[in-house]
Amino acid sequence: MTSFLDIHKTDPADLRAILDSAAAMKTARAGRPRGTPDDAQPLAGRMVALIFEKPSTRTRISFDVGVRQMGGQTMVLSGADMQLGHGETIADTARVLSRYVDLIMIRTFEEQTLLDMAEHADVPVINGLTNRTHPCQIMADIMTFEEHRGPIRGRKVVWSGDGNNVFASFAHAAKQFDFELVFTGPEPLDPEKALDGLYSVERDPAKAVEGADLVVTDTWVSMHDPQSARERRHNQLRGYQVTADLMRKAKDDALFMHCLPAHREDEVTSEVMDGPASVIWDEAENRLHAQKAVMRWCLGV
Ligand code: CP
Ligand code: NVA
Repeated sequence: MTSFLDIHKTDPADLRAILDSAAAMKTARAGRPRGTPDDAQPLAGRMVALIFEKPSTRTRISFDVGVRQMGGQTMVLSGADMQLGHGETIADTARVLSRYVDLIMIRTFEEQTLLDMAEHADVPVINGLTNRTHPCQIMADIMTFEEHRGPIRGRKVVWSGDGNNVFASFAHAAKQFDFELVFTGPEPLDPEKALDGLYSVERDPAKAVEGADLVVTDTWVSMHDPQSARERRHNQLRGYQVTADLMRKAKDDALFMHCLPAHREDEVTSEVMDGPASVIWDEAENRLHAQKAVMRWCLGV
């Protein structure tokens, strides 16, 4: 029984085993209607709590569908509807939930909330995004890259835009999966200092993408960012939009990824999102398969 809190906190061999398991489960149910159960039902009799303190489309639905495909049941809970939103501590909430459910997935603001939940729960806890990281997303991203282009080891990944929570998990993954990561973005939006040494910086996006196997971006204003920062961020980031022209400067077979939701014509043009390099729909689908494997790993089933 192990929590999945972050990519750098998970052993590289375990990360690889999770991706192998995800690929096997995806293959095993290829072509089946989404609602049909998997042949194996490793979560039969298990109850999973999915807690959201922030909005979500992909994380909410992919976890819920994944649990059901594996024979388990879910409760999708919004933080505001729980006593969590009315002063009960995270520790007490974790103790109580552990008496009812077998696994907890939480999307929250402060990383400390996730850590407190994991410390005080008797069941595994999965990080469904915090202000600092988004590890499930990057597991799906690595899976998607490797499906299309083979091993990510030694490849060059370029992140263009805000040095945010999704970038942070890419930085953790660069070390664990041994690929090169380049950040291109404006200095005020640099990644947090704790990530130093995991990536290099090139301020000029055209230079940054030279030789890139994968170009990635994300929203310019994350859910935890103040909306008042929107205009300033747009001004800072305009030069880092992923355009077809920028993609042409990467390798001929470079892929494009975005965790979604995307803001078309802000961080990326529709021409790129809907173009031949884009694997964003596979990336979104692979949230399902990767997280199923994460849940099995957490529960040891
Ligand atoms: N990429 C991602 O986590 O999407 P949601 O916010 O819709 O869950
Ligand atoms: N960086 C974004 C990712 C959304 C999936 C956010 O935190 O809002």
